[in-house]
Amino acid sequence: MVDADFKTDFPTETVQEGKVKAIVPKLQAFKKQPSDYAPSKAPVFYNPVMELNRDLAVLAFQAYQRMVNRDISICEPLTSSGIRGIRLAAEIHGVKNVLISDINERALKLAKQSVQLNGLQERVAVKHKDANCLLSCHGAPRKRFDVVDIDPFGSPVPYLDSAIRALRNKGLLAVTATDLAPLCGVHAKACVRKYGGKPLRTEYCHELAVRLLAGCVATVAAKHDIGVRVVFSHSSDHYIRVYAQIGYGAKKADASVKSLGYVLHCFNCLHRETANTFSARFFEKCPECGSKMEWAGPLRLGKIFDTQFCKLMAQENRRTAFRNSGKIAKLAALVEEEAEAPATYYVIDKISNKLSSPVPSVAAMLKILQDNGFEAVPTHFNSRGVRTNAPALAMQKLLKVAVSS
Ligand SMILES: C[S@@+](CC[C@H](N)C(=O)[O-])C[C@H]1O[C@@H](n2cnc3c(N)ncnc32)[C@H](O)[C@@H]1O
Ligand SMILES: [Zn+2]
Repeated sequence: MVDADFKTDFPTETVQEGKVKAIVPKLQAFKKQPSDYAPSKAPVFYNPVMELNRDLAVLAFQAYQRMVNRDISICEPLTSSGIRGIRLAAEIHGVKNVLISDINERALKLAKQSVQLNGLQERVAVKHKDANCLLSCHGAPRKRFDVVDIDPFGSPVPYLDSAIRALRNKGLLAVTATDLAPLCGVHAKACVRKYGGKPLRTEYCHELAVRLLAGCVATVAAKHDIGVRVVFSHSSDHYIRVYAQIGYGAKKADASVKSLGYVLHCFNCLHRETANTFSARFFEKCPECGSKMEWAGPLRLGKIFDTQFCKLMAQENRRTAFRNSGKIAKLAALVEEEAEAPATYYVIDKISNKLSSPVPSVAAMLKILQDNGFEAVPTHFNSRGVRTNAPALAMQKLLKVAVSS
């Protein structure tokens, strides 16, 4: 029930998302011109496009809860309208309690009403605190959470250290980054500053963005003798998201630092290779065409998906009826396929463009690569992408064969 005296100084509406109802700003009222981005014009942030992000959070945390097989606690310290935290409490089986918080008082007013509306007062606590302050208060043993979900404006980096300290051993950290301009190499200096790694504007820059964010999480965790295992990640709409399970211990931290490295890329022939350490190799010529190579990193070269975890998420999706269930099933199938495949992918149209050749279908390209003994799978990062161990010049040669056959 909503309080009889509940009033806001801006227009709101009640929406249904997943299994809950939530009071959110009435976005139409904040769209004065067609070019206006209503979520950021409203006094409380709410973006309906992020429903998929929230659906996947429900599935990932449910998969995690089944994996650890006990009741879990969750913290969402940048909750805005509260819709995410409320969904996590209402839709995940085995959640003890959820702590949601925001620095914006008007957001909390909505969040508190939505908690009541869904009858979740017993399990969802609402706080008004700065995120780092709240997380730091939960950095001591027995105060820590099983799951921390960081879903900020732009970069999650300012919250990583406190979020990791607020997680118990084997806890799960979920982070969204919407600052794709730095992460994808449009503002390279900002990426180096924030994430400690150099981006590169390649056709697979969204994968590099995930690897830069995952690398940054690993570096921050390592300072506390904590290792990370990335269990799931995705790039959707205007953001990327990384789910990492942490593990206490210097050896685990060393192992995740060891899985950092670099990607070398040739913009002439599209050759790419990985390197564990920075060396003279970075200044040598491309082995395929002799051009100068560029590089990205340090970033995570280790796995950015865990097959078992992705299977668990897909299983949960089959049990759940989301508006996005079909979309999620497709995403899960692609991620499962690419989980063990080599880092980076080619975009067929880019090669065709380079060769001034017609564009083959992804299916035709995958088949010809496999027929020639190469590993080849599609990727969720790009519907025209192919993840393969084929060298760049072999890709060019086989693309020509694919279009002529
Ligand atoms: C992108 S919105 C969160 C959206 C929400 N997680 C969802 O799924 O709908 C980011 C929120 O972070 C809040 N915020 C920004 N800086 C903060 C800080 N230092 N501490 C707590 N909240 C903060 C903003 O008020 C805003 O509500
Ligand atoms: Zn080259």
